[in-house]
Amino acid sequence: MDVVLRDEIYKQAIKWVLEAGESIRDKMNDPLDIETKSNANDLVTKLDKETEQFFVEKIKGAFTGHSIIGEEGYGDDLKNLDGTVWIIDPIDGTMNFVHQKRNFAISVGIYQDGIGEIGIIYDVMENILYHAKKGEGAFKDDKRLSSLNEKSTINEAIIGMNHFWLCENRLIDEKVMQQFVKDIRGTRTYGSAALEFAYTAEGIVDGYISMNLSPWDIAAGMILVKEVGGVTTDIDGGELDMLHKSSILTCNTSIQHRILAYMQKGRK
Ligand code: IPD
Ligand code: CA
Ligand code: CA
Repeated sequence: MDVVLRDEIYKQAIKWVLEAGESIRDKMNDPLDIETKSNANDLVTKLDKETEQFFVEKIKGAFTGHSIIGEEGYGDDLKNLDGTVWIIDPIDGTMNFVHQKRNFAISVGIYQDGIGEIGIIYDVMENILYHAKKGEGAFKDDKRLSSLNEKSTINEAIIGMNHFWLCENRLIDEKVMQQFVKDIRGTRTYGSAALEFAYTAEGIVDGYISMNLSPWDIAAGMILVKEVGGVTTDIDGGELDMLHKSSILTCNTSIQHRILAYMQKGRK
């Protein structure tokens, strides 16, 4: 992507993200009109929908020809990733948003012909902006994030993951995962995939695993993690694409092979 054009898109995207965050903070104590989607715990609110609509209107108004993939379905129905594609999760961590009124984020990844160019993750209540451009490093507000520590070992690693890994599941023998959590230093569950990617990029967790995420959950985070030298694949070490759901492993490269070894051992 042309660097000058990319800068323009980047500045505009950040402006819109901050504006959307402010609007969410202003309206979050009004009735949220909570509905469920794929199951009783998959929540969506009026503000998830309004926020996505806000981005779609702004993008279509300013950047003719850009495409949008959005969780709530106001974007385009894309069959490929040709051209400039905005991949948006208007509120990542809706359960936290509804129950806790914190620990949720706006996530925007901008891709050119399938390649991640711009990643923005905004922790709305903490007013912290994680942002990155391909090849230019990742930032938390104005502070450049350091490269991930190559020397960390699995026994000293803190991994973002939820309890489903330890229950019987379709992907991995839970006994292997029970051993995994005993072998590592600790686990954390934040309830927002975007924030878990941002924390991996920041180095405050050493990695994050999830059984099933959608492109909008990971599009921005993958760019941030890559900019600090980390890596993101599925749990078999395979490449990801932004048109399909997948299992996810994002981490420091020094522990990737160790985590993949547990996955392989327990894989169904
Ligand atoms: C969810 C969150 C959650 C993850 C789920 C996602 P949503 O996104 O990122 O942490 O475990 O798989 O669907 O629905 O709150 O945007
Ligand atoms: Ca999400
Ligand atoms: Ca969402």
